[in-house]
Amino acid sequence: MHPLLRPSIPLLLLFLLLSGSAPPIYAFNITRILAQHPEFSTFNHYLSASHLAGEINRRKTVTILAVSNSAMADLLAKNLTLYTLKNVLALHVLVDYFGAKQLHQLTGGTTLTSTLFQATGSAPGTTGFVNITLHRAGRVSFSAADTSGHPPVSFVKSVKEIPYDLAVIQISAPLFSPEAEAPTAAPTDVNITSLMAKKGCKTFADLLDSTGDAAAAFAANVGSGLTAFCPIDQAMEAFLPRFKNLTADEKLSMLLYHAVPIYYSIQLLKSNNGVISTLATDGRSKNYNFTVQNDGEVVTLRTKVTTAKITGTLIDEDPLAVYTIDAVLEPRELFKPVKAPAPAPETVADSPKAGNNKKHKHAPAPVAPAADEPAASPNDNPADQKVADDDSSAAGGRDYAGAGKWITWPAAAAAAAMVAALVLAY
Ligand SMILES: *[C@@H]1O[C@H](CO)[C@@H](O)[C@H](O)[C@H]1NC(C)=O
Ligand SMILES: *[C@@H]1O[C@H](CO)[C@@H](O)[C@H](O)[C@H]1NC(C)=O
Ligand SMILES: *[C@@H]1O[C@H](CO)[C@@H](O)[C@H](O)[C@H]1NC(C)=O
Ligand SMILES: *[C@@H]1O[C@H](CO)[C@@H](O)[C@H](O)[C@H]1NC(C)=O
Ligand SMILES: *[C@@H]1O[C@H](CO)[C@@H](O)[C@H](O)[C@H]1NC(C)=O
Ligand SMILES: *[C@@H]1O[C@H](CO)[C@@H](O)[C@H](O)[C@H]1NC(C)=O
Repeated sequence: MHPLLRPSIPLLLLFLLLSGSAPPIYAFNITRILAQHPEFSTFNHYLSASHLAGEINRRKTVTILAVSNSAMADLLAKNLTLYTLKNVLALHVLVDYFGAKQLHQLTGGTTLTSTLFQATGSAPGTTGFVNITLHRAGRVSFSAADTSGHPPVSFVKSVKEIPYDLAVIQISAPLFSPEAEAPTAAPTDVNITSLMAKKGCKTFADLLDSTGDAAAAFAANVGSGLTAFCPIDQAMEAFLPRFKNLTADEKLSMLLYHAVPIYYSIQLLKSNNGVISTLATDGRSKNYNFTVQNDGEVVTLRTKVTTAKITGTLIDEDPLAVYTIDAVLEPRELFKPVKAPAPAPETVADSPKAGNNKKHKHAPAPVAPAADEPAASPNDNPADQKVADDDSSAAGGRDYAGAGKWITWPAAAAAAAMVAALVLAY
């Protein structure tokens, strides 16, 4: 059972039913496609081992620059760690569509294109871009933008094209990029606060280092999985006066509220909705939780008080993920919801529609409806109160009403029908 889901009997049944009938809708499976071409089996193996395959499948438009088993052997001879190899392979995934035809008709004869290595946030500056050049004789060459002087590699053949979702192109040798091959620390060796400080969350990192054992609590959880969300400096600085007003205990809870003791890849966050516990959660009362809700590529974290959006990835390597967020997460345990806030936006307008798979190919499967919290406090805003009222009167009980609030795609109707069927079956 997925940890993002909050188990309850009807929802559990609902989940089992839905997950059997509606897996995530991906247009292709790179592992399966490459499996039909044994000359790329090593490349294929490492796409899976590095977890890049899942990231590729989730993409709307990609071009894979594949290398043969013998070319992979040269790369493997460098003895890179799997984390470093992942960066190198991520450089071989262009986030745009280049079939053989597009490559041989390049406007202007050359282009710089972005890659998954660039998208992970690990690549500084223009490293992580690939230069494609069409030469006079019709030869097409590729090189990493940060390789000056290293001979470019050549287009060999088109392996598979699904316009304009996926192209798999064979290139003559692996791309060489000093930045991608630079040693990457294993996630368990990463100093979380210095990583945050270097990448736009210095204020938050300083608070972690200076507040009780907050930094140690983060570090202690990495081995078994940790996902941390750091508010960017601009957001954290604006919040500082209110932070300073908290007691020592509250300050610690506030910081611990920004981490979850489970590793969630960005891919997973983008395809699941639900209530999650944090390092500040007291196991028995399940307090200090918040709701993850995604809308296409955008992931929001909603407390009863604030809504923050994930704006960047500092690291996303099993078992550690650190993301930047654009607002401080204020737990309802410490802050009152603002009066008459805009109600949690229902995303019906943007939600995936049947027959609209091109635009929303990577829409989440309707597997993780988050039941709203049953007991709304009197302080809660009217919108919440209303949901609580609906809860008690809905045929399927609170869980159904809660699910209804969060399932924002047409499957909600199917889900409702299934719940009704379950209720009848009892
Ligand atoms: C892709 O195919 C591989 C091999 O057939 C399979 O193990 C994997 O689960 C598939 N992935 C998805 C997302 O369907
Ligand atoms: C990689 O490791 C092998 C075996 O441990 C060793 O023989 C080889 O010299 C190493 N290559 C490099 C480039 O370090
Ligand atoms: C790509 O590299 C070639 C050769 O170094 C260079 O002439 C060209 O301007 C580069 N293209 C872009 C778009 O930077
Ligand atoms: C992480 O780095 C900071 C500052 O560079 C340092 O103060 C802290 O002790 C380091 N933490 C660990 C666990 O090594
Ligand atoms: C700090 O707390 C005091 C007393 O509760 C309150 O009057 C003041 O407005 C608070 N300051 C901030 C910045 O929240
Ligand atoms: C979330 O926390 C509230 C207290 O703030 C608690 O009442 C509720 O049961 C928790 N929800 C879950 C799903 O754990």
